[in-house]
Amino acid sequence: MIETVPGEFETIMKLYNLKHPDEIVSFSLAVRQGMGSDRGLFFPLKIPFLQDVNALLKLPFVERSCRILDAWIGSELGSDVVERMIKQAFDFALPIVEVESGIFSLELFHGPTLAFKDFGARFMAQCLGTFAGDERITILTATSGDTGAAVAHAFYGLENVHVVILYPEGRISPMQEKLFCCLGRNIQTIAVAADFDPCQELVKKAFVDADIRAKLRLNSANSINISRLLAQICYYFEAVAVAGSVDDLVFAVPSGNFGNLTAGLLAQAMGLPVKRFIAATNSNDTVPRYLQNRQWLPGKTVATSSNAMDVAEPSNWPRVEAVYQARGGRLDELLGISVNEEQTFESMRRLHACGYLSEPHAAVAASALRQSLKSGERGVFLATAHPAKFKESVEQVLGIELELPPELARVRDCRILSRRISNDFLKLKEVLLG
Ligand SMILES: Cc1ncc(COP(=O)(O)O)c(C=O)c1O
Repeated sequence: MIETVPGEFETIMKLYNLKHPDEIVSFSLAVRQGMGSDRGLFFPLKIPFLQDVNALLKLPFVERSCRILDAWIGSELGSDVVERMIKQAFDFALPIVEVESGIFSLELFHGPTLAFKDFGARFMAQCLGTFAGDERITILTATSGDTGAAVAHAFYGLENVHVVILYPEGRISPMQEKLFCCLGRNIQTIAVAADFDPCQELVKKAFVDADIRAKLRLNSANSINISRLLAQICYYFEAVAVAGSVDDLVFAVPSGNFGNLTAGLLAQAMGLPVKRFIAATNSNDTVPRYLQNRQWLPGKTVATSSNAMDVAEPSNWPRVEAVYQARGGRLDELLGISVNEEQTFESMRRLHACGYLSEPHAAVAASALRQSLKSGERGVFLATAHPAKFKESVEQVLGIELELPPELARVRDCRILSRRISNDFLKLKEVLLG
């Protein structure tokens, strides 16, 4: 177990609670706690700035990622520990495909659960494995689609970790559900008769419930956990390394809870040359509206084909604002674009006409990128999930038949083991303590 002694605390990265700035913790404590008091998000007091970005961009992905994360947590954990964790977490491909001249897809879906969440969840599992020692922990998390699978696989079979995952019943794709609801053993899944936002609310309530806290050592594996965000910084560097940057690269990030975008902004704050970011949402457009008129007015969640982004109250938004504040930037630099269903399908068809297969989340980002790219700019959209995870909508929109990759073919006929509950905190409490 890694603990910091008072003297060491002076030299390591510290994080503060965005709601209570006096609450300051080490990285390992932030990872174990997940959230600060009052459900506040942890945010670094200082963002490390890399002096040698050009040299770093020449390194292979894993080696470069070790250096990037070493700048954050090397002084606390030791560079050798950081290196071991990265090597074990990032052991899959990360291709960048030029789909049209000057438009790149950053394919983040080649991990074991075919979604970008594998980067964060696998790294977080490494962190907890390093910090937790013999302590038995319960990971409690809500998923709008892909977090569930990534977390379940990252922690599957670990003796001291019990994983409980809530998801909105009927609002994730059948393939997404199969990927994490058939595992059993230490993975318990709960289908809630509600949208994603209430699932997230139930989880938040559990974290502040005195009875639950007294009995369980709770941890959240949502993108509110800072370890996940740090891991995600690394692939933005890879995109710039492969596409090559003359300060002309624009990133379009398909956004739901805004963890992915936060990681990109942190990469930029570390010195990565990025011209600008686009926050691409589906019809759940709280952020694009806010960026236009500075009024935070979350609407009711709307169900869309990019269901993992059906989030009306993105929990990472305070961090997005905090990054701009920390680097003395202005929120005006961020463009928000909301892409409706017809535009999403049109984007999928257009990419397909270029010989590129995509699913609705990537297509939202690609559409936003196309709408906004100016002459002299090149763009990267983040392809956050494998098209086969959204087999039904991809086949319907493109009129094609998709073959399942082995990861999905394996689970297609497995039985769903989820327990169903209504949107009722007492029911969840019963399950957790029962
Ligand atoms: C496929 C996919 N794309 C995009 C997102 C949105 O990412 P974020 O919540 O970090 O904004 C998610 C989140 O679950 C996702 O699963």
